[in-house]
Amino acid sequence: MMGLLFCPSLVLALIACVFLSQTHLSLTFGCESNSCYNGGFCDDKPDDQSGFHCICFDKHFGERCELRNCKWGYCFNGATCATNTTNSKQLCICPEGCNGKMCEIAQCGENAHCQYKPHKIPLPGKNDSCNALNHEGCVCNEGYSGDGINCTADGVFDYVFDH
Ligand SMILES: *[C@@H]1O[C@H](CO)[C@@H](O)[C@H](O)[C@H]1NC(C)=O
Ligand SMILES: *[C@@H]1O[C@H](CO)[C@@H](O)[C@H](O)[C@H]1NC(C)=O
Ligand SMILES: *[C@@H]1O[C@H](CO)[C@@H](O)[C@H](O)[C@H]1NC(C)=O
Repeated sequence: MMGLLFCPSLVLALIACVFLSQTHLSLTFGCESNSCYNGGFCDDKPDDQSGFHCICFDKHFGERCELRNCKWGYCFNGATCATNTTNSKQLCICPEGCNGKMCEIAQCGENAHCQYKPHKIPLPGKNDSCNALNHEGCVCNEGYSGDGINCTADGVFDYVFDH
């Protein structure tokens, strides 16, 4: 009686053992605990180059569910919010034309800066701090003149040499 019970359970244990080691292998080469961010569900995909595929929830997107459209107040100027996949911290991915930790600073032309103080009027989704896209709010640095995009040093003139 004992033998009859013991044998099938040994077989089951062996099957479980093989199954577990295969699961472990696929975990090692596919899904890991931190493969998908923000509650994303990880699906092993052997034919996927990365070995896994993330199914994202809660409006997240991106290969590892690391991206999200920003909630009110986190990143400005239409930036995308992202989870840094190295240290899991939040960061802002700035659209072209702006920079700063929260994309609050317009990337003005060379020798120019944003005339508004970042964070002074931080209205999310608005561009009160600066309009990065059309450089609205960009002014030339002292000693330079121009439209805030192209600023040339004062006292430098375009000479036409016709020799
Ligand atoms: C993400 O985190 C790593 C490690 O802290 C850091 O070196 C890297 O610069 C960060 N990436 C961005 C885009 O901030
Ligand atoms: C920036 O603000 C101006 C004036 O309020 C508006 O016309 C423009 O569309 C805004 N640009 C962006 C990128 O929000
Ligand atoms: C700034 O200068 C560049 C190069 O000379 C020119 O292509 C561009 O149109 C200028 N932009 C403005 C807004 O004047």
